[in-house]
Amino acid sequence: MDKEVAKLTLPGKESLDLPIIKGTMGPDVLDIGALSKADLFTFDPGFRSTASCESKITFIDGNKGLLLHRGYPIEQLAEKSDFLEVCYLLLFGELPTQTQKDKFISKLKNHTMIHEQLIKFYSGFRRDAHPMAIMCGVVGALSAFYHDSLDIHNEEHRETAALRLIAKMPTLAAMCYKYSIGHPFVSPLNKMSFAENFLHMMFSVPSEESVPNPILVKAMDRIFILHADHEQNASTSTVRLAGSSGANPFACIAAGIAALWGPAHGGANEAVLAMLSEIQTVSNIPKFIDKAKDKNDPFRLMGFGHRVYKNFDPRATVMRKTCYEVLDALGLHDDPLFAIALKLEEIALKDPYFIEKKLYPNVDFYSGIILRAIGIPTNMFTVIFAMARTVGWIAHWNEMISSPDQSINRPRQLYTGPVMRDFIDVSKRG
Ligand code: SDX
Repeated sequence: MDKEVAKLTLPGKESLDLPIIKGTMGPDVLDIGALSKADLFTFDPGFRSTASCESKITFIDGNKGLLLHRGYPIEQLAEKSDFLEVCYLLLFGELPTQTQKDKFISKLKNHTMIHEQLIKFYSGFRRDAHPMAIMCGVVGALSAFYHDSLDIHNEEHRETAALRLIAKMPTLAAMCYKYSIGHPFVSPLNKMSFAENFLHMMFSVPSEESVPNPILVKAMDRIFILHADHEQNASTSTVRLAGSSGANPFACIAAGIAALWGPAHGGANEAVLAMLSEIQTVSNIPKFIDKAKDKNDPFRLMGFGHRVYKNFDPRATVMRKTCYEVLDALGLHDDPLFAIALKLEEIALKDPYFIEKKLYPNVDFYSGIILRAIGIPTNMFTVIFAMARTVGWIAHWNEMISSPDQSINRPRQLYTGPVMRDFIDVSKRG
């Protein structure tokens, strides 16, 4: 069947046939490659209408509130799977058999420890350094320790780098927290599950091993699942762009961590807690809603809105349910911040401004309340997002590197600066 084309009529130029390419789900795309031959670029700041790549990993339908990982709905994965199984699915494309899962987990457990010399990096930071600043540094530094997994064209190197990054992120993250409170670092215990081990490294001390509450372990694992991947978001696009130059995977993931840190992206979960604390009481909510609507006020309702979801973020729905479970289990039903969050959601979703602009709670709105209830300090929230998203970043990096038509990503621009002019000697200026 002939490919469909879109005909582009151009003033003073020959019209162009732009092929229309169909995916398995979601909008068709226009192949605009022919534009450069007509000395034309597209212009799409913020990439609101731009598909940057082809991918088989995650599908999002913003209108239907759909999020699929390799075709499986996030609600089913959050309910029935676990984080390491979702890691396998994202990396290899299928849910593992029990044997495949056991082998994958046992490989990961070979990589949970950190090189002794890398530990010395932490003492170079101030105790009050933001943990994301430390993570940007130490994750990038991993490339200095693992020369045997830097050849991006070697599939075995790529898999070893993936295992090292997924396995070491919890250890590096917990070390950030321990360093900030002056506690000794706690080594990983491979007899524990991924989430259990993370909570152990966060809250155990040499004199007393903390036995993580199974309900909190399950909630932690679910939070990791809900943050694992999300198509071409800002940090994943950063990892793809960095990887397109041939940079090693550790450097690319460090770039992703840096991009995630922003409050418009992964930093929102920390900003939501700060906002709820600033609101203080339910009676103050209307004042903050007015601030969020005021064009002259930079304040935004953190945890609300999304570039893609325009009805609801399916992860927020699962997160709200998990919030109830955790607060119930901990006897924190009357958690004042949760009460403010619930009321804020109720009021905002009735407000014409939020309805018209399709602003709904996103994945970050409730996650911070759960993490705070588990005892995790606010400045660690985005680190936890980065821990979970590492598998998504790696899956996309791997998909890009192994793609036959991979090339360096190099966008063009609309130039509106000075036209060409001659140099003026300093004696003749001013
Ligand atoms: C994540 O991309 C991903 O997939 C990201 C993520 C992932 O898993 O990787 O889902 C994770 O980053 C979730 C988003 C977390 N960020 C926040 O909660 C911060 C608050 N939200 C906003 O900053 C904003 O909604 C964004 C950044 C999330 C989306 O921004 P867009 O798509 O660029 O939307 P926009 O800024 O163009 O806003 C559209 C309108 C604007 O008003 P007008 O100029 O049209 O009059 O809605 C307004 C905005 O002012 N608006 C808000 C608002 N978000 C948008 N007004 C008040 N409060 C808000 N939160």
